[in-house]
Amino acid sequence: MQIQKNVLELIGKTPMIQLDRCLPKTKHSIFGKAEFLNPGGSVKDRIALRIIESAEKRGDLTAGGTIIEATSGNTGLGLCMVAAIKGYKSIIVMPDKMSKEKIDTLKAYGAKVILTPSGVEATDPRSHYSVAKKLSQETPNSYYANQFHNEDNMQTHYETTGPEIWEQMGGKIDCLVNGAGTGGTISGIGKFLKEKNPDIKIILADPIGSILHDLYKYNEIKTPPAPYLIEGIGEDMLPGNMKFKYVDDVIQFNDKEAMQMCRNIVRNEGLFIGPSSAATVVCALKWAEKQTEPKRIVTFLCDNGDRYLSKVFNDDWMKANHLL
Ligand SMILES: Cc1ncc(COP(=O)(O)O)c(C=O)c1O
Repeated sequence: MQIQKNVLELIGKTPMIQLDRCLPKTKHSIFGKAEFLNPGGSVKDRIALRIIESAEKRGDLTAGGTIIEATSGNTGLGLCMVAAIKGYKSIIVMPDKMSKEKIDTLKAYGAKVILTPSGVEATDPRSHYSVAKKLSQETPNSYYANQFHNEDNMQTHYETTGPEIWEQMGGKIDCLVNGAGTGGTISGIGKFLKEKNPDIKIILADPIGSILHDLYKYNEIKTPPAPYLIEGIGEDMLPGNMKFKYVDDVIQFNDKEAMQMCRNIVRNEGLFIGPSSAATVVCALKWAEKQTEPKRIVTFLCDNGDRYLSKVFNDDWMKANHLL
């Protein structure tokens, strides 16, 4: 066993775990890419490190600088963890629907947290996107990570997560299911896997209320965006990192399906994951139902359940939101 220089060396190379007890009887094999085991607790550690190191290389981020980002929390946590090691300050701008656990953990890493109203349009000056961008223009020696449009995001998954999945599955994979916030994960992995085998299906798991489903299916928004409780996936704008050309279909789910599957996975697989992870399993089962031959399906265990104790794992919150 070797000694790691620091926590950043623990990012990536996450396990692939076969799912079993949480599933109904099925002829298909379903696996989970365990991104919740990254040191910051989510898939976003990968892009956080890459975005900061690329900015350093370009000279866009220098010693004593401030990192600014708009996030549903996980990218913020990854950026704060990297900033802690490299001596940067961080300002994290987040919609106020995100969990208290995320806010407290960001502060524990030393971040300044700014909450914005959830449900305002992306172009609204009060939105977390607009506030973060404006702050970065006003803050000297700051770097705006801009994960939604920063190409380092998708490139990270094309160069790391995609190859890991291909290798772990021994090239025997029929379908990958993931949600999209920025779209960087599903687009980067989709591009890599389709270069390996164009027959691999890439399925986007999208919450009802997000605009991504309509944009993919109809290239226009037919159903106006509506609030949903799940965090980290679904969108009210089209991120630059969302490349639909690598996606074969979009399957929708609702909060209740995801929250109930989340509890099921924790209690039957012992995997302490969050609701967006469970949503990929819900949609994998919906896709599998339509398949005649047995399929090998990879889902995405995106983040750790520790940031949702006051929500999906809290009976009162579940009852109050009619999810039990
Ligand atoms: C919990 C969770 N799952 C999935 C994602 C989606 O990742 P991406 O932004 O690469 O689409 C995010 C993004 O923030 C997330 O926080």
